[in-house]
Amino acid sequence: MPATAFTPRVFSGIQPSGGLTLGNYLGALKRFVDIQNDGKQECIYCLVDLHAITTWQEPDDLVRNTREAAAAFMASGIDPRRSILFNQSQVPEHTQLAWIFNCVARMGWMGRMTQWKDKAGKNAENASLGLFAYPALMAADILVYHATHVPVGEDQKQHLELTRDIAAKFNHDYKIDFFPITEPMIEGPATRVMSLRDGTKKMSKSDASDMSRINLSDDADTIALKFRKARTDAEPLPETYGELEERPEARNLIDIYAGLIGQSPDSVMTEVAGQGWGKFKPHLAEVAVETLAPITGEMSRLLGDLAEIDRILIDGAARAREVAAPVLARTYEIVGMISPR
Ligand code: AMP
Ligand code: TRP
Repeated sequence: MPATAFTPRVFSGIQPSGGLTLGNYLGALKRFVDIQNDGKQECIYCLVDLHAITTWQEPDDLVRNTREAAAAFMASGIDPRRSILFNQSQVPEHTQLAWIFNCVARMGWMGRMTQWKDKAGKNAENASLGLFAYPALMAADILVYHATHVPVGEDQKQHLELTRDIAAKFNHDYKIDFFPITEPMIEGPATRVMSLRDGTKKMSKSDASDMSRINLSDDADTIALKFRKARTDAEPLPETYGELEERPEARNLIDIYAGLIGQSPDSVMTEVAGQGWGKFKPHLAEVAVETLAPITGEMSRLLGDLAEIDRILIDGAARAREVAAPVLARTYEIVGMISPR
């Protein structure tokens, strides 16, 4: 059977479970903007509030974080007229397809997810059922749009492999080439930004220490302080990137710098070789502030009109549903569910 040609379409999501970090910006948002501006593919970007509640969210915080994330997307350059921007819960087709995928995915597949193991920890008995099923909802987010490309950070690689497995098993079981086998886009120097306090841990919005991360909402002084206090070793920067292999904290700061200025880590090394931290860190902080200050400023301007943000998300959801509804209807039909024609 010849492979079906699917329209190139990009989908990605971010959880509004806290303020966004520099990791989200470099690993995801900045790339969402670049892909949109390339103009080659239709882009659908989603604030995945249903994923967020797989761990406890105070309702007021969830609303605020969702609006803040929407503002961060737009302030970073997502144009809600060119891309579709919305929050997940407004498009019920995601959860409807997720149920079908709950019945396609196997318990064993889900149990092997490292994010599940990390988040559920030793107390899996007490984790929500939603946290376990999380990757099936993520597969539904992507496949309900027949999305072909998904830009994410490195930590989502395994979930995207599972998405491919779910699509392949559905196609196999129902003997139809219906869902695309999605390509992950994990590219650039900063697909895995690490904590500023521990170079072996991912920078995360949920880390207990605020000093471990740069938040998109941090002001210039805070950014400078956090980079100044960032953990490093005592050695100056070497000639080549390869020499940073055993120096995770140093490598992380180089990756961040490379991500911010849009160059490869190798070419960055020719600029900074031989520098000590006393010179490099303030320069890094300056570059970070130059990039983030306009975004932070624009975010607070956008957050001055919450009704407008909500209106944009409602409009995005209506456009998303136009794409998702026929895919869901056809899925139901394939599965054998009676529905109006
Ligand atoms: P999350 O905040 O977990 O919803 O992640 C949203 C997007 O940001 C996903 O594509 C992640 O892979 C990406 N991301 C989150 N943290 C980092 C990080 N520390 N470095 C690079 N990408 C990240
Ligand atoms: N699981 C992703 C994360 O935590 C967020 C997400 C949900 C997502 N659905 C998605 C990312 C679909 C890409 C595509 O980062």
